Amino acid sequence: MAYSYALLFAILALASSQAFAGDPSPLQDLCVADNKAKVFVNGVVCKDPKKVKAEDFFFSGLHKPGNTANPLGSKVTPVNVTVLPGLNTLGISVARIDFAPNGLNPPHTHPRATEILTVLEGTLYVGFVTSNSNDGNKLFTKVLNKGDVFVFPVGLVHFQFNIGHSNAVAIAALSSQNPGVVTIANAVFGSKPPISDYVLAKAFQVDKKVINYLQSQFWMDNYN
Ligand SMILES: *[C@@H]1O[C@H](CO)[C@@H](O)[C@H](O)[C@H]1NC(C)=O
Repeated sequence: MAYSYALLFAILALASSQAFAGDPSPLQDLCVADNKAKVFVNGVVCKDPKKVKAEDFFFSGLHKPGNTANPLGSKVTPVNVTVLPGLNTLGISVARIDFAPNGLNPPHTHPRATEILTVLEGTLYVGFVTSNSNDGNKLFTKVLNKGDVFVFPVGLVHFQFNIGHSNAVAIAALSSQNPGVVTIANAVFGSKPPISDYVLAKAFQVDKKVINYLQSQFWMDNYN
């Protein structure tokens, strides 16, 4: 008896200590997102499986270059659960990223996804920074050419910059149906309402004037 209780506790302890770094696993074959549902759940409500069609698992358009005529010179076209409802509960999505010469996908994080990037055209200088540690924040960078693949671990700040003389194109696969994006500059200097300039001046160890200048800029994102 005592032995079986000990075993039960061991199993319970193990089960409750399990951590899931990615999206939770599906509990059924198909849970096509009903993007019109008014109920809020973790993910999106499933549409009636009898009404599911092949189109729910299909998206067309990633052959089209994104418009990079903006101050960053880059454009992300996400294919997430909003535009591909069949992704719901599957823990995966994809995006096309276009870069003009000198185009930058600025430092950002995906709070819910690891990203694996494949360069289709051009030359990108890419990198990510590790979280705080005793050695500080370590930067890992690489120059990528056509056919090269690079992985950006979940949650870490990363960027991609076109250092070639022509346009560049990459495909990013992400380990979430809804990876989320936090663009560092926008989140810090462009929040609404703004973060107190006193707080930011102290955090960045600069004069409040520098913060006010940064806060008065237009912080665009490159994926809408
Ligand atoms: C989902 O994809 C659409 C279409 O590409 C995009 O407009 C939207 O910003 C994406 N949503 C998120 C949360 O990234």
